[in-house]
Amino acid sequence: MKISLKNAAPFVPAGTLSTLAAATAAANELLESGKGAGNDFLGWVHLPSSISDDFLAEVQTVADDLRARCEVVIVAGIGGSYLGARAVNDALLSSFDAQTAKRKNPYVVYAGNNIGEDYLADLMEWLQDKQFGIINISKSGTTTETALAFRLLRTMLEKQVGKAEACKRIVAVTDRAKGALRSLSTQEGYRTFVIPDNVGGRFSVLTPVGLLPIAVAGGDIRALVRGAQEMEKATGVDVPYEQNPACQYAAMRNALYQFGKTTEIMVNYNPRLHYFAEWWKQLYGESEGKDRKGIFPASVDFTTDLHSMGQWIQDGQRTIFETVISIEHANREVIVPEDKDNLDGLNFLAGKRVDEVNKMAELGTRLAHVDGGVPNILIQFDRIDEYNLGQFIYFFERGCGISGYMLGVNPFNQPGVEAYKKNMFALLGKPGYEAESQAIRARIAE
Ligand code: PA5
Repeated sequence: MKISLKNAAPFVPAGTLSTLAAATAAANELLESGKGAGNDFLGWVHLPSSISDDFLAEVQTVADDLRARCEVVIVAGIGGSYLGARAVNDALLSSFDAQTAKRKNPYVVYAGNNIGEDYLADLMEWLQDKQFGIINISKSGTTTETALAFRLLRTMLEKQVGKAEACKRIVAVTDRAKGALRSLSTQEGYRTFVIPDNVGGRFSVLTPVGLLPIAVAGGDIRALVRGAQEMEKATGVDVPYEQNPACQYAAMRNALYQFGKTTEIMVNYNPRLHYFAEWWKQLYGESEGKDRKGIFPASVDFTTDLHSMGQWIQDGQRTIFETVISIEHANREVIVPEDKDNLDGLNFLAGKRVDEVNKMAELGTRLAHVDGGVPNILIQFDRIDEYNLGQFIYFFERGCGISGYMLGVNPFNQPGVEAYKKNMFALLGKPGYEAESQAIRARIAE
């Protein structure tokens, strides 16, 4: 993995970056010493190096059992209990996985991440003639979206295959002792994995929250963890700023923020990375957006979105910067064919790989956007595979922890997420919300 700040540095006054570079060391040290805000949620910092082969084998065994029993596995979870697994699975699987009939792996589909009635009805209709299982993921065990989907799906599964077989096809990933999902699992006898107390949802992809669904989909979790372990070493407190990619990333984005760049756009040139940007947006948005501070994390898929958001990025308000995820080697090869009539005028590309065309689009766009006043951070990965994705995950986690401390917020809480829940429960008349219910109804009636 390589990071280049060459096209971002000219957008901040001389001296800014060296001041912030020093601040990254202090922030990184806080992650290590555990003396910063939210220090009871630092379990992710040394998580990769603490994962044993035996533990991975245990996860793999349960994954293999689900793979043998089910043609479809539903991953029910939301936010940090969903996005990491989806990001890795979508990056590794064929873009047409859902349409592939002859399969080595079960279909992995996702639920419990919305309250769309049509979505749930469509899913249950599709599942009617399928052998399915469920991985239900919720740290708190009480998240409405996930619990609601799980109630519907497990009821359906029990009707389809009976309680005993349903029990073998359900795995819960939740808190060690607390929450409704833990109690339900104990009562029903579901197999469970624990989300460690000191790892928050959005930092949990390298726990069974991500590892189990990734292994079920056929991903190599050992290689994923190996990549993360390498990046844990490469971003540690003993690695100086000049060699530490997480510190460099954190310094540059904070420098740009200080000078009015309040939106960071993650850019990819490979549609399989769409959900990686979704994962990243949650990680940074929920970690930094508080106390009326924080960079707004946005994302685009290029070149697709060059035909929609490209105009805004090139010429709109200059409050943005881009972080481009560049993949050096495509995994597949497609050569542009020669055409004797050349009516489409594309013979100048004949014999070239499609990836070369994509790379020139990427380079041309980067330069155009820099010329248009958009600072550009470039992050290069060798290819999309488990090892590189593991690096990618840990790099952005470490960068997030450092960045959040530099911004002066607690990157590990999310108090703002409760506001909508309080109103929703009040409106739905949840027991215990009587006073809120009265107040919100009076407000609406005004
Ligand atoms: O990062 C977070 O903490 C959140 O996004 C949670 O992961 C999300 O709200 C789901 O919570 P839970 O796992 O408790 O159902």
